[in-house]
Amino acid sequence: MDGTARQGGPADDRRVVIVTGASSGIGRATALRLGAQGMTVVLAARRASELESLSAEIERSAGRALAVATDVTRMDDIERLTTEAMSLSGRIDALVNVAGVGRSHSIMSDDADVEHMLAVNLLAPIRLMRAVVPVMIAHGSGSIVNIGSVAGEIGINGTYSATKFGLRGMTDSVRRELAGSGIGVTLIEPGYIDTPLTAGRAGRMPGPDIVAHAVEAALRRPRRRLIVPGRYRLAVFLSAALPGIVDRRFAGKAAEKPVPAAAPPGPRG
Ligand SMILES: NC(=O)c1ccc[n+]([C@@H]2O[C@H](COP(=O)([O-])OP(=O)(O)OC[C@H]3O[C@@H](n4cnc5c(N)ncnc54)[C@H](OP(=O)(O)O)[C@@H]3O)[C@@H](O)[C@H]2O)c1
Repeated sequence: MDGTARQGGPADDRRVVIVTGASSGIGRATALRLGAQGMTVVLAARRASELESLSAEIERSAGRALAVATDVTRMDDIERLTTEAMSLSGRIDALVNVAGVGRSHSIMSDDADVEHMLAVNLLAPIRLMRAVVPVMIAHGSGSIVNIGSVAGEIGINGTYSATKFGLRGMTDSVRRELAGSGIGVTLIEPGYIDTPLTAGRAGRMPGPDIVAHAVEAALRRPRRRLIVPGRYRLAVFLSAALPGIVDRRFAGKAAEKPVPAAAPPGPRG
């Protein structure tokens, strides 16, 4: 396979694609869209029942799907996921790293919360890329799409921003490391999207299909970076060019402030 759409049009695209975070929101919309193109979608997330019903939905359209219950923070789960994907046709043509957790943990947050977010949002995509890249190199082609965030360009969301800045740096580096290998590497940076992750947030937001559409485009033609919706591009540009504006706008407002712990007892007597 050459990593692009097959002869006969997009619906004949028979690539094997792993999509993490497929049980909800952006990952689910992406899996549905890729399945409708005829791709074999390997669905990964922890909630097996959600994956099974999504798999059935994809099978009812033009696609094929395989549900693999996966906790991306577990190395043995990642190994099983890639083994099961390989068992389909001996190759993995694409990896879409969508799985992620939200919340804007501040510097004062519990260490366990910070560590968990780093494990899901940053360490897992790195491990998944490490697992699939040798397979792609052996075939001389492949596509990797990582879902970052506008919060990975503008540091106002505490640990969440840290993970997405990290993923951006890693994605840029991997693209340069793999140049000439036939593997395309794309970072997609969504702004606010209407999914369970943003439940309770006020204001109109586009649905997850806008991101799924960008993933599909990146699988056909890799780009360095795609910001969706495009209206966030100005904010990203301004925060890099004039960071003082962001400093003033978010002074005292960045990240979620944890509930302060009870003050230590004062001296007696
Ligand atoms: N929504 C937005 O506004 C927005 C904006 C920018 C970027 N993003 C990014 O887009 C991605 C998807 O977010 P979403 O909005 O679609 O959120 P979502 O609806 O909450 O979906 C999150 C997905 O991640 C999976 N996941 C979480 N922890 C996991 C783990 N340990 N192992 C495997 N899967 C895990 C969940 O599956 P299980 O719970 O079944 O495991 C779920 O499928 C995230 O990386 C997020 O940072 C979202």
